[in-house]
Amino acid sequence: MNPTVIDTSAPTRPMTVPELAESRRAGRKLAMLTAYDAGFARVFDANGADIILVGDSLGMVVQGLDSTLPVSVDDIAYHVRAVARGLRRALLLADLPFQADATPERALDAATRLLQAGAGMVKLEGAGPHKLAAIRFLAAREIPVSAHLGLTPQSVLRFGGFKVQGREAAAAKQLLADAQAVAEAGASLLVLECVPSALAAEITRASPIPTVGIGAGPHCDGQVLVLHDMLGLDTGHRRPKFVKDFLADGGSVAGAVRAYVDAVRDGRFPAAEHSYA
Ligand code: KIV
Repeated sequence: MNPTVIDTSAPTRPMTVPELAESRRAGRKLAMLTAYDAGFARVFDANGADIILVGDSLGMVVQGLDSTLPVSVDDIAYHVRAVARGLRRALLLADLPFQADATPERALDAATRLLQAGAGMVKLEGAGPHKLAAIRFLAAREIPVSAHLGLTPQSVLRFGGFKVQGREAAAAKQLLADAQAVAEAGASLLVLECVPSALAAEITRASPIPTVGIGAGPHCDGQVLVLHDMLGLDTGHRRPKFVKDFLADGGSVAGAVRAYVDAVRDGRFPAAEHSYA
């Protein structure tokens, strides 16, 4: 085994939630990646990722499923515990899986388990009334929350597939209103997935909280990619337009992470070819 060399001069405490907003104020883009185990988490952390997400994407890229719907809180908690062991400085964000946020009480139970497993923040999809109630309930109980709007994969059945959201004027207007609503409810971060670049730019300008895009163009306050997509691994699913294989540039997993983080920070990723009009 060839262990990654950890930079021991790097801070040994995790990035904090207030530092997300400070990053935005300083014009420093946030680089986020998903990870599901301690080994990848360690390499991502040591090579500059600010936020590591244990996403319910694990259903599709780790468990080989067709959607994220079967993923459970137990699944997320298992991977959070593993990832937490690999982190020194990145903030650990964990997904509330399908229906774990169906009521504020369920969301509190799930979020408490995930924070006790090692997460520093939880993410939930959507901005319907019960989602806003869950965000409010968690935020009032000292649980940092990230919202997630646009292509929310837990809505795949209603959307009829994994499709770009917000292209029609009414849908764009709704997304702008939802972005304000999740911030007002107490979210500290907003993930925007698969929305046209111009809309993501408008949402980001108007948003009181930092935005992190995936398939949302270059104007968000940060970017996120799924581990497998960033390394060009075949997941058995259609390869979305926003994906870039950084292993090809970086030459090693550590090099790929550095290439990704550098490209996010200086605004070279995503380019127009990774974005939707
Ligand atoms: O589950 C996940 O990995 C996610 C990202 C795609 C943002 O939610």
